[in-house]
Amino acid sequence: MRVLSGIQPTGRLHLGNYLGAIKQHIELQTEHECLYFIANYHALTTIRDADLLARNTFDIASEYLALGLDPERAALFRQTEIPEVTELAWILATVTGKGLLERAHSYKDKVAKGIATSMGLFSYPVLMAADILVYRSQLVPVGGDQVQHIEMTQDMAGYFNNTFNTDALVRPEGRLNEAQVVPGIDGQKMSSSYGNTIELFDKPKAIRKRIMSIKTDSKSVDEPKDPDSCNLFAIFRLLASPEETAEMADQYRAGGLGYGTVKKRLADLFDEFIGPSRERREDLMVNPDRVEAALTIGAAKARTIAEEVMADVRAACGLSVRPGGCKGE
Ligand code: ADP
Ligand code: TRP
Repeated sequence: MRVLSGIQPTGRLHLGNYLGAIKQHIELQTEHECLYFIANYHALTTIRDADLLARNTFDIASEYLALGLDPERAALFRQTEIPEVTELAWILATVTGKGLLERAHSYKDKVAKGIATSMGLFSYPVLMAADILVYRSQLVPVGGDQVQHIEMTQDMAGYFNNTFNTDALVRPEGRLNEAQVVPGIDGQKMSSSYGNTIELFDKPKAIRKRIMSIKTDSKSVDEPKDPDSCNLFAIFRLLASPEETAEMADQYRAGGLGYGTVKKRLADLFDEFIGPSRERREDLMVNPDRVEAALTIGAAKARTIAEEVMADVRAACGLSVRPGGCKGE
């Protein structure tokens, strides 16, 4: 099965990104042909600082590698290395009704928030459909906010194939990332836009400080506490073993446990979880050529597929250089 997903380089990766998406991406590499790209074209809809975009793109690549992505198995690449993507986006735009894009929740939400919209933001789902269809991807793991974009991709594949009476494009299936929503240090969904994240590769001291500032109620050490309504416990259970989680829940209910103690244990668990990846990342930081080498191999793999698919797409809609049936075809 060919699996594809993209991640926008809009900030440093956090625990929510890892448990909600990246962990599954990395697990899938053992069983499937995986293509993962850094959606730097998409990020241009929000980032207008060249150094920042280039830096973020490189950082996400090194973080994926440090977290266990094996560039020999899964292709990791920059979206912009594959020019066929923007070519297909244009072609898809010509067969896609404006009404479909006007119904996109993420676009409507941005309009409702008064965010200045651009044509790029409006046609974001067309570029995303091109990302998926240009590799004939079969499975696309995404978070809940992207499900509508996958449905739109399925529609666009159908519009193209029906219009030109072809099967050049393959209808992909979405796969909802199964992890539950990871809460941030303030109890809302962890998100870089809420400033409530625990970044995976922050300095150890800074991570500890973030964990010590997780919001809790003001119950005293002696009072019994409810693990099920506690945000700190909700994060704790994501990193602790089932046994330690059950034991911690008992201690909450019994009383005599301070939130500070739980936070300290959580900080240790986080350290154990991220330690090996942090070492790999430090190594990559002093050997940035290794990151570039991984991205180059990944782009070459992805481009080979995209070129094949685009040859069929161009032929199907009359964009091939030579008309079909011509001598020498
Ligand atoms: P952010 O909200 O920080 O901008 P993105 O929207 O770029 O994060 O998310 C990238 C991926 O990580 C998506 O697949 C998304 O579903 C997943 N993800 C982000 N935050 C969380 C979270 N708090 N819990 C679970 N998954 C998350
Ligand atoms: N829109 C996705 C997000 O914000 C990123 C993305 C771009 C993507 N192209 C994609 C995800 C193609 C999956 C497939 O999270």
